[in-house]
Amino acid sequence: MSQIKFFQGDNLPLEMHKVRIVQKLNLIPVEQRMKAMSEAGNNTFLLHNRDVFLDMLTDSGVNAMSDRQLAAMMEADDSYAGSETFFRLEAKIREIFGTEFFLPAHQGRACEHIISKVFVKQDSVIPMNYHFTTTKSHITLNGGRVEEVYIDEALNITSNHPFKGNIDIRKLVELIKKEGADDIPFVRMEAGTNLIGGQPFSLENMRQVRKVCDEYGIMLILDASLLADNLYFIKQREKDCRNMSIREITRAMADLCDIIYFSARKLGCARGGAICTDKSELADKMRELVPLYEGFLTYGGMSVREMEAMAVGLKETMDEEMINQGPEFIACMAEELQKRGIPVVTPPGGLGCHIDAMGFVDHIPQTQYPAGALAAAIYIASGVRGMERGTMSEQRDENGVEPLSNMELVRLALPRRVFTLSQVMYAVDRITWLYENRKLIGGLKFIEEPRVLRFFFGRLAPTNDWQDRLVKKFREDFGDSL
Ligand code: F0G
Repeated sequence: MSQIKFFQGDNLPLEMHKVRIVQKLNLIPVEQRMKAMSEAGNNTFLLHNRDVFLDMLTDSGVNAMSDRQLAAMMEADDSYAGSETFFRLEAKIREIFGTEFFLPAHQGRACEHIISKVFVKQDSVIPMNYHFTTTKSHITLNGGRVEEVYIDEALNITSNHPFKGNIDIRKLVELIKKEGADDIPFVRMEAGTNLIGGQPFSLENMRQVRKVCDEYGIMLILDASLLADNLYFIKQREKDCRNMSIREITRAMADLCDIIYFSARKLGCARGGAICTDKSELADKMRELVPLYEGFLTYGGMSVREMEAMAVGLKETMDEEMINQGPEFIACMAEELQKRGIPVVTPPGGLGCHIDAMGFVDHIPQTQYPAGALAAAIYIASGVRGMERGTMSEQRDENGVEPLSNMELVRLALPRRVFTLSQVMYAVDRITWLYENRKLIGGLKFIEEPRVLRFFFGRLAPTNDWQDRLVKKFREDFGDSL
């Protein structure tokens, strides 16, 4: 938490670093933004980065690296097998999580691939606080099914519940009794629950989940990709943890798990993935798939430079002054939007600021992808690239039926240490303009729809000429401004 109090007014998020390398940004005129959005099939994943002003698509692989990470990259020991870099990273993971075994993979979903292939069988049921897109796809591809046992409060957009990522223990026990423990290989807890707005779970909740797992002989697997934010919130919001260090909270969580995996594109501010466990029999089962799908056991598809950066990044994540960076900027952005009446997920979570599209464009039916339409409109209005997290991100079932998402969110990710406060305020300003003109925003329809993970590369078109009208209004209000 920031130790620094301001003399006047509310505290502002304060960077505990200085900028030493910069990258020039480009803001193209609104007409060109509309054209770029149309060429990208109204899917922000398909935009060219050169057409993007502030890239708030994700925090994945785009967090700012520190001077120490860059320096460590120069010392990487390049070798196919037995690289010193691997052993340095293994030692760091052991130090932080206390786990004996570390299996490298090229990114988070590769860990999910290996875990699912080994532990998910036909008709397996995997309880979790909430699904993540790639996790669910891997589980279903292996014949399993995801069952979400979130607390009722989880889906309340505006709430003051500190731990909306908690598992509902009663629902978990009921599910286990209904399905039978034999069909449940593991319970998955996702730190900083991504799709409900980066919401954390508490350490106490994890302890309770562990107790249930022990009772029924089920493994507990932690998806630690967004662990950093979750750790920060535990320290901030959980009374019993206030006096624990970030490292102590991390160890307390890790000690409750059978397996921890994470995307190092998020945790560790580098690019890669890791599966960690203290149980040799589990490591043995997964190990053989690493050389098959990822690469040899001492790199697993990662470049050794990234592995060095990851080791330093993990250490820096444990720094009490660094871990607050993301959540404090996100809280600031969410509060500024809220002050202007714009519906956002509260309490603000990790990863990014989440706008409630169903509240913002309540005239667009879910079948016309309100969050996708709003993400397209935000880009046109501002050059800010966000991500749809709603029905577009769902997958049709085996009968071709499209499930409507529980929430329709536009996520404006704040990669760690990347954006300044004035850039955040620019985004807030343009979104405020859009909110005043929200009735101009219309829906979208698929014109190309892939079967798996359609949100990544599906293409959509506006349902009418609403984007032309939006650009016209922009010109009326902003004159010749970009
Ligand atoms: N688990 C969680 C909770 C994630 O947020 C992600 C990625 C993954 C697993 C997969 O990791 O990308 O390294 O393969 N989330 C990114 C995002 C894509 O933008 O939220 P990956």
